[in-house]
Amino acid sequence: AEQQQAVAILVPGQFNDHAVGRIDRTFSRVWIERPDASLVTDEMRRAVRGIAAFGGINAALIDALPNLEVIANFGVGYDSVDAGHAARRGVMVTNTPDVLTEEVADTAIGLLINTVRELPRAETWLRDGSWARNGNYPLSRLTLRGRRVGIFGMGRIGLAIARRLEAFGLPIAYHNRRQVEGLPYEYHGTLKGLAEAVDTLISVAPGGASTERAVNAEILSALGPNGVFVNIGRGSTVDEAALAAALAGGTIAAAGLDVFADEPNVPPALLAAPNTSLLPHVGSASEHTRRAMADLCVDNLISWFSERRALTPVPE
Ligand code: DGY
Repeated sequence: AEQQQAVAILVPGQFNDHAVGRIDRTFSRVWIERPDASLVTDEMRRAVRGIAAFGGINAALIDALPNLEVIANFGVGYDSVDAGHAARRGVMVTNTPDVLTEEVADTAIGLLINTVRELPRAETWLRDGSWARNGNYPLSRLTLRGRRVGIFGMGRIGLAIARRLEAFGLPIAYHNRRQVEGLPYEYHGTLKGLAEAVDTLISVAPGGASTERAVNAEILSALGPNGVFVNIGRGSTVDEAALAAALAGGTIAAAGLDVFADEPNVPPALLAAPNTSLLPHVGSASEHTRRAMADLCVDNLISWFSERRALTPVPE
């Protein structure tokens, strides 16, 4: 049945090649276009029943496609898909959980260690000849030893990070909308309470209105001057100006960021801060994991059009 379905791939830039290939082979018509309601042609308007997207699906775009049935988001985070509007319009939204959990947790740990032990800067020291010219790289001011780690957002990825940190022998606490049953980690009902109890905060929060700029000046200051902030979730959960000020003023010691509020733009103040480790949103970005995400994204479309069943619908 899926052979008769027309699908649009609506992406701001490049979409995963493996996903594009499978979609091309599976569906009758495919458009590759930017996610912008003004680019929807009459033909798309009539024909498009499914979207594969890398976020960026707003209400105007959903309304511009009256025959739309399903939005398959490439990525577990769907904060830039208007899922509320989709639900009101009866449009199914799916994401790609589970298949990226371990990869993102690995990246979070790497980013934490890079931030605390300054490993990227030490490598630059070697590569630019400073080692030979000036001697050993200065001792890192910070260490993981003795840290208490707080995880903001205890979903699948938060849990995978916590499991890794257990092996490091570090005490772990967390804040989540709800306490997760059966976890051996200290729960805090507020982010403020968590920040006061730890000196290292890892944000895995998925973004969206409820956590917009939740990591603000007050939260950062609660971490203290030894504080380290790591963000592997979404940049929108952070007040980036407050973070840059906290780093510049010594309110906290360092930050490691894989995500930013206005990607691919990185605030100059964060670029200029010496005590940051910055990555271009590579949490899940291995060929292995992106292929698995691509398969799950496309399998959701196929399952929807053949059985009216989504494999991984986003939570209500
Ligand atoms: C996700 O899956 O949400 C990652 O951020 C990749 O976009």
